[in-house]
Amino acid sequence: MKAVIQDRYGLPDVLRVEDVPVPSPAAGQVLVRVAATSINLSDWEGLRGSPGYARLAGLRSPGLRTLGSDIAGVIDRVGDGVTRFRTGDEVYGDNLSLMGGFAEYALAPEAALAPKPTALTFAEASTIPQAGAIALQGTRTAIAGARVLINGAGGGSGSFAIQLAKRLGAHVTAVDNAVKQDFMRLVGADEVIDYRRADFTRPAERYDLILDLVSTRSVFAYRRALAPGGRYRCVGGSVRTLLRVLTAGSVVGWTTRRSLGLLVVKEGPPHFEPLADLCVTGTVTIHIDRTFGLDDVPAALAHVGEGRALGKVVVVP
Ligand SMILES: NC(=O)c1ccc[n+]([C@@H]2O[C@H](COP(=O)([O-])OP(=O)(O)OC[C@H]3O[C@@H](n4cnc5c(N)ncnc54)[C@H](OP(=O)(O)O)[C@@H]3O)[C@@H](O)[C@H]2O)c1
Repeated sequence: MKAVIQDRYGLPDVLRVEDVPVPSPAAGQVLVRVAATSINLSDWEGLRGSPGYARLAGLRSPGLRTLGSDIAGVIDRVGDGVTRFRTGDEVYGDNLSLMGGFAEYALAPEAALAPKPTALTFAEASTIPQAGAIALQGTRTAIAGARVLINGAGGGSGSFAIQLAKRLGAHVTAVDNAVKQDFMRLVGADEVIDYRRADFTRPAERYDLILDLVSTRSVFAYRRALAPGGRYRCVGGSVRTLLRVLTAGSVVGWTTRRSLGLLVVKEGPPHFEPLADLCVTGTVTIHIDRTFGLDDVPAALAHVGEGRALGKVVVVP
């Protein structure tokens, strides 16, 4: 089978397409014939080996040689003990522990996968698992009338999070680069901010909830942007910023009647299927910016990593 292989961390030019043997599923695993894999920022981070948490599977060189975690496809074979799926079933899920979606076939633990809703295409289903889990959990506390800010809102998780917060009745401010301003309005943001031109941590009116997909600022800046009783949750960013939020952030929050912390996103079907249900009914719209073939995975990753993607980017082997 064809697979996109990575032997070292670096820019997209470290990737190459190779013919490799089709793997066999171990106990509890299934072999999926990949129909579509969406790209997450975590794939770009896995390619670069940065931030530091992207090296958890391999400090000096990638522990997993093929990236791509959000897969959708058809079960080709099942390993011993697999009870939920059989050959021919259409599935989708976030395969974070094994990755391998930038290939014609991928192994996945059966627990990571859910049956694909028939109303969604494979490409659409592949956009949901990781970004959907982040968006659902990140907007869970948004309520009607609350002022919600989403930082890094023009990407995959952000475009779902804007819609979910709006659906709950919040007033949503979306922050991202200049290219994404119109897109974020189209998705539903009430206000948009270009982070290169304005500082969202000095607002005229402060926020009740900040969901930060790309934390880069100090805990004092985040505290300044929060209304009393407000909540700041970061999902991704530099290890340094995340550690500061964990340590100083909790103290600063506690002493100023605010809550600052990390959102550790729970994975697995129960955490993304509710978003698929909303997509099936048309309550939430899936925005696919572009699709790429396997040979173009380096370009696809660059499109996401360099901040040009509006919503999700999908690789179709
Ligand atoms: N906590 C957890 O349990 C957990 C689980 C899974 C994933 N994650 C993490 O979640 C994060 C978000 O993933 P995603 O796939 O939603 O990302 P994404 O689709 O790439 O969206 C991130 C957006 O942020 C923008 N951005 C970059 N720097 C910015 C800044 N300084 N200010 C405002 N916006 C900025 C990016 O565009 P530009 O770069 O062009 O500006 C991009 O539009 C990743 O870091 C991933 O590792 C966390």
